[in-house]
Amino acid sequence: MVELARFYASRGLRVARASMQYIWDVNGARYLDLHTGHGAAFLGHGNPRIIERVHRQWMEIGVCTPQFECSIQTEVSRLLSSILPSGWGVFFQNSGAEAVEAALKAAWLYTGRTRIAAFRGSFHGRTLAALSVTWNPKYRSGLPTLEVVDFLPYNDVSELDVIGEEHAAVIVEPVQGEGGVVPASTDFLREVARAAREAGALLILDEIQTGFGRTGYTWAYQRAGIEPDILVAGKSIGGGFPVSMVSARRDIVDSLRGRHGSTHGGNPLALAAVAGGVEVLTGDDVPAKARERGKELLDLLSGLEGFRGVRQVRGLGLMAGVELRRNPGPVLRCLQQRRVLAIKAGATVVRLLPPYMVTSEDLGVAADGLRECIGREASG
Ligand SMILES: Cc1ncc(COP(=O)(O)O)c(C=O)c1O
Repeated sequence: MVELARFYASRGLRVARASMQYIWDVNGARYLDLHTGHGAAFLGHGNPRIIERVHRQWMEIGVCTPQFECSIQTEVSRLLSSILPSGWGVFFQNSGAEAVEAALKAAWLYTGRTRIAAFRGSFHGRTLAALSVTWNPKYRSGLPTLEVVDFLPYNDVSELDVIGEEHAAVIVEPVQGEGGVVPASTDFLREVARAAREAGALLILDEIQTGFGRTGYTWAYQRAGIEPDILVAGKSIGGGFPVSMVSARRDIVDSLRGRHGSTHGGNPLALAAVAGGVEVLTGDDVPAKARERGKELLDLLSGLEGFRGVRQVRGLGLMAGVELRRNPGPVLRCLQQRRVLAIKAGATVVRLLPPYMVTSEDLGVAADGLRECIGREASG
């Protein structure tokens, strides 16, 4: 018997099946899923429109080297034209970290420069270049990461003048997710965009967690009225299918010609999943639903701010964080006993990443659970 390696601590839940915002355990108990597999099931577990597309594609052709043309490639670029700036290029990878890696490669090759500016509190993935721009030293320790990165304070413009002509790119999350659900102010994002432009550095927006409607906008950067040079997305875009995407101005994408590739990147199944994802996003007006439900969620959670154990409630759309005064582990376990699944962010934050079809009633259940679990923790 070979043992399956587990790099995360077990949550002690044996899952049998899932549908949209719910998961059932092997005993038939139903859980409200606000963990959504680190945000990947934002379009719901088993969204039928996406399953149908992937199934149909696999029956037709499931492997098609990027050296050949197949119709799903045309179909996905047609659909993506409705949610990406016109004249941009796009290519696909398999995970968020790989997409960050490719975005950095493009920036280095396009500019011929080496340094990268990133932000304190950032998380960009676990491969070596992505780790190099990830702030938390616990992820990087013991590994030979790249020493070309300047970490600047997030939501603080005082050190943006560090960005200069040796910088190939500035990489930023519009809401830091893993770092503790910290939304960037629109002023800060505008100043970052300005500093990058003035230095001739490319602006890379990492929307792997925030993108595809979650924050109430198709892309969270739209809230600040800026435009990135490179946009990186992943998690939700394929409705749970492992796929990520890099899009950028055509001349930037072209700098990778002959310098990049991936066996599975952009395979027909992934493209079918993204095609289905875009149809759900636009057909169901996902950003509007996320904005509406997200407002309800933050209103409900704001009532927790008076609790002794709570430092702050933050969020944007369907991405919310309750910052506690201590490790959120006991609160997450208590919530799970009440059949609500949430996830940790940073050292002290309970993070809620609901799927877009979550109902007002579901949100009420989650808020009641949090009230009770945080209250119990504070009095314990
Ligand atoms: C903002 C951000 N970037 C990159 C990643 C890495 O994505 P993946 O785990 O798919 O490699 C994540 C994952 O949590 C993320 O939230």
